[in-house]
Amino acid sequence: MESMAEIFKPWRMNRLGVPNKLVRSATWEGLANPEDGSPTPQLTQALADLAKGGVGLIITGYAFIHPRGRGRPRQTGIHRDDLVDSLADVSHAVHRAGGLVAMQIVHAGGQTKAEWIGQKPLGPSALIHPFYGEEVAGMSLGQIEDTIEDFARAAARVKAAGFDAVQLHGAHGCLINQFLSPLTNRRQDDYGGGLENRARFAYDVLAAARSAVGLDYPLFIKLNSADYEAGGLGLADGIEVAKGLDARGVDAIEVSGGTPAAGKLSAVRTVRGVGGEGYFLSNAVAIKEAVSCPVISVGGWRSKARVAEALEQVDAVALCRPFIRQPDLANRWQANDETSACISCSQCFEVGMRHGLGCGQLFHEPKGHVPKANPPGAGPVGPAGSWRSMVYV
Ligand SMILES: Cc1cc2nc3c(=O)[nH]c(=O)nc-3n(C[C@H](O)[C@H](O)[C@H](O)COP(=O)(O)O)c2cc1C
Repeated sequence: MESMAEIFKPWRMNRLGVPNKLVRSATWEGLANPEDGSPTPQLTQALADLAKGGVGLIITGYAFIHPRGRGRPRQTGIHRDDLVDSLADVSHAVHRAGGLVAMQIVHAGGQTKAEWIGQKPLGPSALIHPFYGEEVAGMSLGQIEDTIEDFARAAARVKAAGFDAVQLHGAHGCLINQFLSPLTNRRQDDYGGGLENRARFAYDVLAAARSAVGLDYPLFIKLNSADYEAGGLGLADGIEVAKGLDARGVDAIEVSGGTPAAGKLSAVRTVRGVGGEGYFLSNAVAIKEAVSCPVISVGGWRSKARVAEALEQVDAVALCRPFIRQPDLANRWQANDETSACISCSQCFEVGMRHGLGCGQLFHEPKGHVPKANPPGAGPVGPAGSWRSMVYV
């Protein structure tokens, strides 16, 4: 079928030629060293396996730009210059396997736990986080300026480590999204209030990262088109922010939505049949109509036919859970018309917390049994056998 061929046509993001339109959306792997966030051989292997599996562009799991912005245990760090060499080994391994790799960079803001970062989380405004239940401290202007610089320094490290692109995490309730949302941003200075003020942090981060990496280095963003929370960022505002980022030179926008506090309407949803696929596509199409840069649609893509149809409206599609289940899904789609074996159970979060990247359907607990829920009072991740409830990113 002609339209299926569209999946395997190349596209461009700034200077980067991407060989096909399948992107591995950022996926926290839980495979970094717990102390400093440096990569492990298992992380390198997982990304090289994806490259061998034929996906056009791999986006790493979110990497923290500052220890205070770490969102989860065993998350990769991009907060120190001395990590560049070990991260270069990762990008080189992906290149040797024939792939391309971008790194997603993040500050989790208030969406983390004090026990994971050793201090009170920071956000645009002081509040109790609706999902994590943590007390969040409001950022001073100086802390905002420092964090913008942290993003810029992290972007420069991504480039120095040989990655092909850098993606800002502006979705799923992380710090950039916290500034955009009126629910979490109650500031009364230049960074709060009307949309132009709430978007200022995103624009400043983009500008600082751009100065750090240069005009021809691919710099893109994963953006919440809407938060799906009463009083949160709505689609009309999401489109305005996308326009603002486009006007300021972002190289592509991956359109997502939802936050952990949005429950069933989070970024990571159940997908029921082909009709449930691509649950943010209409938002991506609305953004595509408003911007000139490439637009990537993420969220619930499972079948080759639906992906091919979507590519009539957007430039590329990104998948997360299907590539956990089948890292070679792109090669499979090149050979056959099949649907991903992923059933969207999202147990990959639980497996990730316990052992690192893995599919809940394929995973067998060595001692027999994968618990379905977090026992009350379970401690932080660390020693084998500890367990926490599912926490979204
Ligand atoms: C285990 C797991 C880890 C994730 N880690 C990230 C992440 O680091 N950064 C991010 O932007 N989204 C993350 N996501 C969200 C996915 O990138 C994606 O937006 C979402 O799962 C919907 O796509 P899917 O239906 O193809 O899984 C994660 C999702 C899962 C299931």
